[in-house]
Amino acid sequence: MQAIEIKKGKLFYLDQTKLPLEELWAKCASITDGYSAIKALKVRGAPLIGVFSAYCIAATAEKIPEKIFFTQLAKNIKYLKESRPTAINLAWALKRIESIVCQNKNKPIPFIKKLIFKEAKEIHKEDVNLCRSIADYGVKLIKKGDTLLTHCNTGFLATSGEGTALAAIFKANKIHKNIKVYVDETRPLLQGARLTAWELEKKRVPHVLISDNMAAYLMQKGKVDKIFIGADRIVANGDIANKIGSYSLAVVAKYHKVPFYVAAPQSTFDLKLKNLHEIPIEERNPDEVRTVLGKMPISHKNVKVFNPAFDTVPNNLITAIVSDKGIIYPPYSKNIKKLIK
Ligand code: MRU
Repeated sequence: MQAIEIKKGKLFYLDQTKLPLEELWAKCASITDGYSAIKALKVRGAPLIGVFSAYCIAATAEKIPEKIFFTQLAKNIKYLKESRPTAINLAWALKRIESIVCQNKNKPIPFIKKLIFKEAKEIHKEDVNLCRSIADYGVKLIKKGDTLLTHCNTGFLATSGEGTALAAIFKANKIHKNIKVYVDETRPLLQGARLTAWELEKKRVPHVLISDNMAAYLMQKGKVDKIFIGADRIVANGDIANKIGSYSLAVVAKYHKVPFYVAAPQSTFDLKLKNLHEIPIEERNPDEVRTVLGKMPISHKNVKVFNPAFDTVPNNLITAIVSDKGIIYPPYSKNIKKLIK
């Protein structure tokens, strides 16, 4: 199953805001389409927004007239980069496109357009392989009969491959490790309830949905063996940013001695940043909190709201980081450098 598709040079995406009720595919026909799809979380998940943004630049570059090619392309890249600030994969993929253009700027424009498409395809292919390696390493941490807990969505809807944390879980299930997964619903946008439960159902992985405030109670009762989550950015000292609610899970996991694993590909590491204080955290529309999925109001309409989309987890709460290059254990500052360029 894929969340994006290229057909005859045109970019299509599965609108994730409609899941699980409807599998609706939409076309990304312009740079503003691409921006709104990412901003509205129709296309979401750190690795997927990287791949999607590269394709979006490639597909829209086709239409730019030669005379204004370089200025318009630069504007498109800058604009798309601003759609979501926390996941580094977006800026990482766009930087790769920028470098290809920069290295070839003296070549004919039609040739550069082809190169941009080629680079987007390469980023896509790499992401599929990175997911495969993460699954191979991650599955080693899962024992027969384990009960796992996950937060947000890290599967084939969040990447262009099988996923990160969920890919390891799918693999464990496939090789009959007899696992069970607790799925945090992930308020306010319910990626766990809407997307992760849907993916686990499709892959026939036994799962139980809980609301976010139930996770601590399950750990107190000794019902969770391990936690597996993804990341939107991992910095040089091993601190991470991930979906809001990850930090509280990590604190409770530490208290109850439940191993806390973070799975992410190379494209999620940002080694220029030293620690979690430097990670930009996206704040979203207050209506996401005032309502259930923009439909049913759950408070008076003028209530003040705080709505950060992500939080940060300090490295001392993380048992290990599962990357495509291997499993990274503390001390992270030293060990991340050894594996990730
Ligand atoms: O706001 P979202 O749905 O894009 O947030 C996604 C997450 O936080 C994921 O856990 C993260 O991107 C890892 S995806 C493999």
